[in-house]
Amino acid sequence: MKRIILTGAHGFVGKALQGFLESRGYQVEALRSRSTGKATMNEATGWIDRDFLENAFAVIHLAGEPIAQRWTAKTKNNILESRRQGTRLLAETLARLQNPPSVFVSMSGINRYGYHRPNEILTETSPTSTAGFLGEVSSAWEDSTQPAHQSGIRTVNVRTGVVLAASGGALKTMLPAFKLGLGGRIGSGKQMMSWIRLGDLVRLIGWIVETPQCQGPINAVSPQPVTQFKFAQILAKTLHRPSFCPTPSWAVKLALGQMAEETLLADLAVLPEAATASGFVFETPSIESALPRALQE
Ligand SMILES: NC(=O)c1ccc[n+]([C@@H]2O[C@H](COP(=O)([O-])OP(=O)(O)OC[C@H]3O[C@@H](n4cnc5c(N)ncnc54)[C@H](OP(=O)(O)O)[C@@H]3O)[C@@H](O)[C@H]2O)c1
Repeated sequence: MKRIILTGAHGFVGKALQGFLESRGYQVEALRSRSTGKATMNEATGWIDRDFLENAFAVIHLAGEPIAQRWTAKTKNNILESRRQGTRLLAETLARLQNPPSVFVSMSGINRYGYHRPNEILTETSPTSTAGFLGEVSSAWEDSTQPAHQSGIRTVNVRTGVVLAASGGALKTMLPAFKLGLGGRIGSGKQMMSWIRLGDLVRLIGWIVETPQCQGPINAVSPQPVTQFKFAQILAKTLHRPSFCPTPSWAVKLALGQMAEETLLADLAVLPEAATASGFVFETPSIESALPRALQE
C-alpha cells in the first residue's frame, strides 16, 4: 500500500482529504505540528521526525495557524511563521531524504494574486502580487517549498480559493445568519469570489498526486467564479430563505479589520487553467450545483 503523509490532518480540509485518499487505497499517516516525538514536527525549534518521512509516496502539507481570526501583530506573526518555518523545515528535510517522495503538495492561497484585481481573469500565468498580508504570507509559503523543488521532487503549490462545505470554513460561519433569513451581500456584492467545493478540492489534490504532469502553481478554484451578490442569492435560494440583509463594507471592516478587506471583500476572479489543462473534471463547476452538495459535506 502506498503511504501518504499529511500535515494538518485534523483540520477542516485534512479530515476530508484523509477519508478521500483512504477510499482510493492509500495508507494515510498524519505528521502533527507543534510538538516533539514520533511522527511530529516543531516548526519553531526545527525538530522533525525525519525517518517517518522516508519511503512515502507523497507528502501533502496543509498545516498552518488558522487565518480566520482577528489579526493582531501576534496572530499575524503566527500565521506567517507557522507557514514559512513549517514549509521550509519540511521541504529541506524532504530534499535530504534517502528515499524522497514522488511528489510534495503544499497548500497556498489565491491571495498569491493579491486581493484587489478588479476586471481581471487570473490564471497560473498571471502576474502574482504580494499586496496585503495574505499576499505576503502566500509568497513566503510558496518560496519555502523551493528546497524540495530544487532537489528534483515534483512540487505543487495549490492556490486554493474559498473552500465550501457546511462542516467548516467560510460557509459554516455564514450559515446561521442565512438559515435565519438574515443573509445577503457583503459590501457592494460586486466583488468576484473564487471558490471550490470541499469534495472537488480533495478530488483535485488526489488528482495532483496521481498526475505526473502537475507541477508548480495550480489554482484550486471552480471554473465559474461568481460575484459575492450572486453567491449570497444562490445560497439563500438553496436554503429556501430570503437574502435581503446586506452587510455594509464598513461594518465587516469594523468587525474583522484588515482581514475583511483581504477575504470577504477581496475581488479575485481566478480560473483553474492548469487543472483543467491536465484533464481534471470538476463534479460541481457551478455555484448552483455546488451549494446543495456543500451543505451535505
Ligand atoms: N479553508 C479554506 O477556505 C482555505 C482556503 C485557502 C487556503 N487554505 C489553507 O489550507 C490549509 C488547510 O485549511 P483548513 O481550513 O483545513 O485549516 P484548519 O482547519 O485551520 O486546519 C489547519 C491545520 O493546521 C495545523 N495548525 C493549526 N495551528 C497551527 C500552528 N500554529 N502551527 C502549525 N500548524 C498549525 C493543525 O494541524 P493538526 O491537525 O496537526 O493539529 C490544523 O488541523 C491551511 O493552511 C489554510 O490556510 C484554506
